[in-house]
Amino acid sequence: MCSEPSPPWRPASALDEWVQREARPISLRQLTFFGRTLTENRLLSVANYVRTELPTRIAHRLRDMQTLPYVVVTNPNMLHVYEQYNKAFEKLRRVPEIRTIADNDRYCDVIHQTLEEHLTVIPRLAMGMLECHDLMGADRIDKFMNTLLRSRISRRVIAEQHLALTETFNSPWKHPDAHTNTESQNDFVGEVFLRCNAKEVVERCGKMATELAKQAYGEDLPVPEIRIQGHLGATFPYILGHLEYIVGELLRNSIQAVTERRRNHSPPPPIDVLICEAPQHVIIRISDQGGGISRDVLPSLWSFAKGAHSQTRLQNLHKVPKMAATMQELKVPDSERCDRDKNGNFKTRGKRQPDKSLSSLTSRSPTLRLGMGLPMSRVYAEYWAGSLEVHSLEGYGVDAFLQISKLGNKNEQLTTRASMDA
Ligand code: COI
Repeated sequence: MCSEPSPPWRPASALDEWVQREARPISLRQLTFFGRTLTENRLLSVANYVRTELPTRIAHRLRDMQTLPYVVVTNPNMLHVYEQYNKAFEKLRRVPEIRTIADNDRYCDVIHQTLEEHLTVIPRLAMGMLECHDLMGADRIDKFMNTLLRSRISRRVIAEQHLALTETFNSPWKHPDAHTNTESQNDFVGEVFLRCNAKEVVERCGKMATELAKQAYGEDLPVPEIRIQGHLGATFPYILGHLEYIVGELLRNSIQAVTERRRNHSPPPPIDVLICEAPQHVIIRISDQGGGISRDVLPSLWSFAKGAHSQTRLQNLHKVPKMAATMQELKVPDSERCDRDKNGNFKTRGKRQPDKSLSSLTSRSPTLRLGMGLPMSRVYAEYWAGSLEVHSLEGYGVDAFLQISKLGNKNEQLTTRASMDA
């Protein structure tokens, strides 16, 4: 394993070779296909897909970083990110073909360690980009961030799915029928929840966001009620952590706006959530009466770099050294692990509560503003071919529209609308 990262200004020939390879995107359906009836051969075949896919996808992003202005890559935060990726690339590209379950177990240890190490990536990247604002310009920063974050989600998805499948395979007691992960036994295949119910996700995230708001504002300040209506039975396959992240962020924003701007209303006006199921999509509309977004803030709403308060954001980011921007990244030791029940709720056995040291965007206090919740949520929404839009009715409130592709047959979207190469 290579320990010394090569300097950013001198591309390694191995990198050139890996950059030539195309990423091979997959759909949610494909992610679950192998896991439904898990055999040794299938698990090894997934392992080898992940083995070649991770270094390929990292190589593309390393090359992007090499094309940034030199002063940007030498920014200490950016250099940290570059070195993390270079180290991971050097380690992962050297993994030989996985032929046995023992090989796979060793490979899973490497993936596990890399996932842990990369928890510092998002805050360091966000700080680096804010610090380099004047050197790069906001539009270029946003393009770069969108591509890099989407690619990061994609790698973590395939890596975590493989870890989850391996865990299932290695625990035959959970699935006595020769590792058959049938739907009646478990609605999860790896990290994919086959019957994700929009209403239950909104309820769960609403509860969490309300709790956080009460902690932040005190019990005396009333928080708005969350009312849900529409197609309450709508279900679809999805990675719960992704959906919880987006819905959690939207509800947090709405609760915050209503609580802060409608202090004199008792009770405060409710937040209305409408779920609408169409043949191909599920749409979740979240409407609040928190006063809307002022015109001067709108242009920076989706930006990682634009907007005021960059010094405060930098200070706040320093308080979040590790960030798990997917809920399923919040792994805790097995002894404390809490499984989901068949509805996706956390069972009470363990404490799969967000670990304070791995503070996620969703679990941080609403008063700690990092300025990346919305753009990050859109990266998540678009990754599985969905969309996220926000309409502000200035002086009244906000309507947020989240559209989810419900059939699970769309490939992960590795390129962004204004993308660099994938
Ligand atoms: C990331 O977290 O950015 C990764 O790329 C993780 C993956 C290499 C396992």
